[in-house]
Amino acid sequence: MPGLLLDTLNGRRADKVPMWLMRQAGRYLPEYRELRAAKGGFLDLVYDSDAATEITLQPIRRFGFDGAILFSDILIVPHALGQGLEFLAGEGPKLSPRLLDSKLESFTAAPERFDPIYQTVRSCRAQLPDDVTMLGFAGSPWTVATYMVAGEGSRDQHETRALAYRDPVLFQLIIDVITDVTVSYLRGQIEAGAEAIQLFDSWAGSLAPDEFERWVIAPNSAIVDALKQSHPGVPVIGFPKGAGEKLSAYARETGVGAVGVDETLDPLWVNANLPEGMPVQGNLDPLLLLAGGDALVERAQLILKVFSARPHVFNLGHGIGQFTPIEHVEQLIATVRGEIAPR
Ligand code: CP3
Repeated sequence: MPGLLLDTLNGRRADKVPMWLMRQAGRYLPEYRELRAAKGGFLDLVYDSDAATEITLQPIRRFGFDGAILFSDILIVPHALGQGLEFLAGEGPKLSPRLLDSKLESFTAAPERFDPIYQTVRSCRAQLPDDVTMLGFAGSPWTVATYMVAGEGSRDQHETRALAYRDPVLFQLIIDVITDVTVSYLRGQIEAGAEAIQLFDSWAGSLAPDEFERWVIAPNSAIVDALKQSHPGVPVIGFPKGAGEKLSAYARETGVGAVGVDETLDPLWVNANLPEGMPVQGNLDPLLLLAGGDALVERAQLILKVFSARPHVFNLGHGIGQFTPIEHVEQLIATVRGEIAPR
């Protein structure tokens, strides 16, 4: 039995709406914090397949979500390309040397770093109920490049945007290398048991329109084409966060099967501007989930109503925050399952 989430991503609309949350495996869960404290750093957890499997399954056991997203990180791709990667407490990721000071050719690739991730996918798939969809993922080339170039997260990705203008030939090469390794990484995840894939383009929102075409639409479309050739039945969810009105071109031009929508877009606009019948995933503001209360229930019900004529996967507009109370998640689940009277 393929399950409600996979059916919905394949374009079928049912009475029930499937649900999962971005960053559902993570710090808002006491059972995650406990394992993290016992095992050490974040990367140690990612590369320990037993721990990563346990963390992937935690939110499924607790909440019964329709999809389990692999516990890993988009920055495993730079690490496997040979760039140093550390997660420093309170500072976020650091990659070294950064591409502003070094050449990609000077890195020694370490593709074996993907092996424990594939093992995590395999053991999750073996332990999950049949009707829970195993979601693999990767960062999109643009977003991954912003970390590789600057060596860390940046507020407006300006080093990378400037590099792309200054030296588009070099930047195209960086994007092509990331695209190729991402295709092989996602094929590995699919062969290990991932049934659908999400492409996270978290920083798509900082690009001017022509740059968006070149660095977001083109590489995502290359990844989707390659996956369609090797694994035609596996749906790809594209999530170009912050794309605004460019979401419509993204949905039409990349070939993705479904689009993730962030909280800045009005669901009415999304519904009117995406191709009819295209599955949509989103788009509750994670801060409203943090705040909770009647406003949370009302907004979730409104989103459900607006997307009721097309396949819809309920999700947040971005990852769940670490201080989100568990009771608010429970209230949201009850709302999506129709257990709370319309407000
Ligand atoms: O539950 C899930 O969604 C699966 C796991 C997952 C993580 N990161 C775990 C994680 C996924 C899908 C990601 C994607 C990711 N990672 C993105 C794209 C989505 C987004 O949020 O925009 C990005 C940009 C990253 C890079 C990254 N990883 C940053 C900037 C940070 C530090 C900031 C932070 O939130 O701590 C991480 C660390 C990270 N990735 C944690 C988790 C659970 C926190 C690690 C910890 O301290 O325990």
